[in-house]
Amino acid sequence: MTKKNRDLRDEIERLMSGHRFTDVLCAGAELGVFDLIAEKPRTAVQVANALGTDRRGTEILLNALVAIDLLTKRKDMFYMSKLSREYLDPASSSYMGNMVNHVINMRRAWLELPTAIRTGKPIPKPDTSEQSVRERTRHFIRAMADVGRDAARRVAGSIDLSNVRRVLDVGGGPGIFLFEMIRANPEITGNVFDMPATLETTREFIEESGMSDRVGTVEGDFTKDALGRGYDLVFMSSIIHIYSPAVNKRIIKKGYTALNPGGRLVVRDFVLDPNKTSPVQAALFSVNMLVNTDCGASYTEKEIKSWMSAAGFKKMKRVEIPSHSSLIIGTKPGK
Ligand SMILES: C[S@@+](CC[C@H](N)C(=O)[O-])C[C@H]1O[C@@H](n2cnc3c(N)ncnc32)[C@H](O)[C@@H]1O
Repeated sequence: MTKKNRDLRDEIERLMSGHRFTDVLCAGAELGVFDLIAEKPRTAVQVANALGTDRRGTEILLNALVAIDLLTKRKDMFYMSKLSREYLDPASSSYMGNMVNHVINMRRAWLELPTAIRTGKPIPKPDTSEQSVRERTRHFIRAMADVGRDAARRVAGSIDLSNVRRVLDVGGGPGIFLFEMIRANPEITGNVFDMPATLETTREFIEESGMSDRVGTVEGDFTKDALGRGYDLVFMSSIIHIYSPAVNKRIIKKGYTALNPGGRLVVRDFVLDPNKTSPVQAALFSVNMLVNTDCGASYTEKEIKSWMSAAGFKKMKRVEIPSHSSLIIGTKPGK
């Protein structure tokens, strides 16, 4: 086999077996393996006894977790690895366990991807009882905090906040982007605008972060309700990918109305290149929106700027933020 053929074969094998990495990680998280080993190192038998799982199955899982660097093994003992200690130990400040739970929820829909492509409709959620929706929302918002923490710091460091006093975080979820803006400029106060079910969790975050005197909440549906007025900065992070171009155009116009003259709208999201096939994270995220939303997708810079331009925004620019997201910023004229 030539080197070129070997590389191709490696590539198809990587694509065929990629799910195994995710499945092993998710099984470890779902069963509570990382929580247990983060407490103290254990043998496979000790893990099986503590979790009430099968010994053979547990040992196979633990060995596979070592193989993909999520645990280490010395003699018969399993330990947290550098990677799991950083991201899967509940005591870590970079904990991503809530995001792993969210991935577990998402995977069920991804397995039915061909159905979503045939019908053009999202895959229905398995349980739509009020209790289940509440729990899913809570996990989802906690997951958003896990993945957003780093980006929130970078966003606050990438925007000039010196003249900003009032911020509206539209669909702010955990509110962590607003919190970081306030940490960067303590003269800022603001509101998180979100659905009532989400705001239950938002309020927990506001409390936990000691932001109660700086951050309020506004209940509403931004596809139907106005966003209010008097803001210097309106922030929309990971919002537009949930909705269609027509709806996004309307939401962005509402953002324009909510701003003071000279105020800025900042849209943060995955941004597709003009051909819509790269970057890979943005293209794959579009698939995530296909299986989970009625008409969401990732969009191009041109599309986002066209909605902003239609609303009246000027001086539009794009700022890259590491971790696969970009900011598209526009200014409301008149100051
Ligand atoms: C993907 S999360 C993004 C959360 C946060 N902005 C971030 O970047 O971490 C989407 C958020 O938008 C909220 N949301 C979605 N549709 C909404 C609507 N029509 N009205 C108000 N909030 C909405 C959700 O409740 C959720 O908090």
